Amino acid sequence: MSQRIKIKALLESGKTDIDVTIKGWVRTFRNNQFIALNDGSTNSNLQIVVDFENTDPVLLKRITTGAAISASGLLVASLGKGQTVEVKAKNIEILGDSDPEKYPLQPKKHSLEFLREIAHLRFRTNTFGAIFRVRNSLSFAIHQFFQERGFVYLHTPVITASDAEGAGETFHVTNFDLANPPKTPTGEIDFKQDFFGKATNLTVSGQLEGELGAMALSDIYTFGPTFRAENSNTTRHLAEFWMIEPEMAFYDLNDNMDLAEALLKYVIRYALDKNKEDIEFLTQRLLDEEKQKPQNERSELSLLDKLQFCLDNEFERLTYTEAIDILKESTPNKKKKFQYPVEGWGTDLQSEHERYLVEKHFKKPVILTDYPKDIKAFYMRQNEPDANGRETVRAMDILFPGIGEIVGGSQREERLEKLEQRMDEMGIPKEELWWYLDTRRFGACQHAGFGLGFERLVLFVTGMGNIRDVIPFPRFPKNAEF
Ligand code: 4AD
Ligand code: MG
Repeated sequence: MSQRIKIKALLESGKTDIDVTIKGWVRTFRNNQFIALNDGSTNSNLQIVVDFENTDPVLLKRITTGAAISASGLLVASLGKGQTVEVKAKNIEILGDSDPEKYPLQPKKHSLEFLREIAHLRFRTNTFGAIFRVRNSLSFAIHQFFQERGFVYLHTPVITASDAEGAGETFHVTNFDLANPPKTPTGEIDFKQDFFGKATNLTVSGQLEGELGAMALSDIYTFGPTFRAENSNTTRHLAEFWMIEPEMAFYDLNDNMDLAEALLKYVIRYALDKNKEDIEFLTQRLLDEEKQKPQNERSELSLLDKLQFCLDNEFERLTYTEAIDILKESTPNKKKKFQYPVEGWGTDLQSEHERYLVEKHFKKPVILTDYPKDIKAFYMRQNEPDANGRETVRAMDILFPGIGEIVGGSQREERLEKLEQRMDEMGIPKEELWWYLDTRRFGACQHAGFGLGFERLVLFVTGMGNIRDVIPFPRFPKNAEF
């Protein structure tokens, strides 16, 4: 038997009149004669033509949607529509049966909601095949980008005692017997003892540990799962998501912004190049979806146009204060006011404000900097108060069309005194972060970094509408079965 070849490689080879062996899963079997076979290497199915008159009828019955088969035969140019080549089968072997009465995936379009309920099988659809190949390429491109620039990939812990963001949205890690947990003197469960006698949680960010690495290796990045026990019942939040967090010694906020913009453009370009076919498929999928909407609600740009547009334009950079001034003078359209009017300086922007800035005002990605000190984390570098006495920090958020915040970062506060003072003000226990503060005691220097939400990036590049559809096994409230 000839050696097995994957469908993508076979199609790309351009060869015909050779013997091939293909293994994959049956998508459809028409007229007892034509099998559409897919092996996940591409969305293109390979047509296998069965000589049904000379094939055992019992075997024919076992060629059903979802079955795993091996097919060997001659690869020939196809005369039929829809494919350039096909395989004239000489031998078909059933590797794994699939009962058509019970197989949940039918050869028709299923809703994304339905597919979310069978996330263990949704990889076998064209849409999810395309999404997870794009996700794979983006993840490879991220490593390539940093490796080309001499960054060190640093593995930071998943179990930690710190709440890097200080937002209190952590999941406890416990190894104690739930039936007999340690108790405080007042009789409550003592979570301070949950991990071999120490209070720990799943990491919300690898940044603080990343900073330690950068203070010796100069440029590092992390790329791992992070966990937030926040309300993740939205299309943009997960309880478990992957984050890329570079941290660079001797960088200021401008260097940080330059790096983030270069990273985003690099990985989008890489996916467009490497996954052209998949992105074209996803673009068409969205166009079909748009056709169901009334004309005035349809998007002006296709997915491919949006990605190209993002590559061709410099991201707009402005301060939070400048953004507030724009928002105060704007209404989303002639009739409608913002649902949450911009009250004034000092409050966080709502997603409708971010969307307005990106999608209506600038019509391109936007980087907002220098946010009010009181709405950002303790570790951000403090600016001198402005002429009006308003206090800001060297923060940056990158906002993307259709996504909102995709990156959050800052120049870090490297001055020990300022950092300690801020921690006191915010009630962050200095004694627990003594190791972090040590970096400010010994050879402290200017440094900066950011966090890129990986699933939000995949959302943007695939044009999908719900973050639960771009991670293989989404974690959100009440969803952790598989
Ligand atoms: O803005 P965040 O909370 O920043 C940090 O964690 C910093 N320590 C990063 C750093 O400077 N090293 O999160 C960073 C990004 C957000 O911009 C967003 O893209 C993503 O992580 N993110 C989420 N993605 C999915 N689900 C959630 N619940 C997310 N929370 C944040
Ligand atoms: Mg943020």
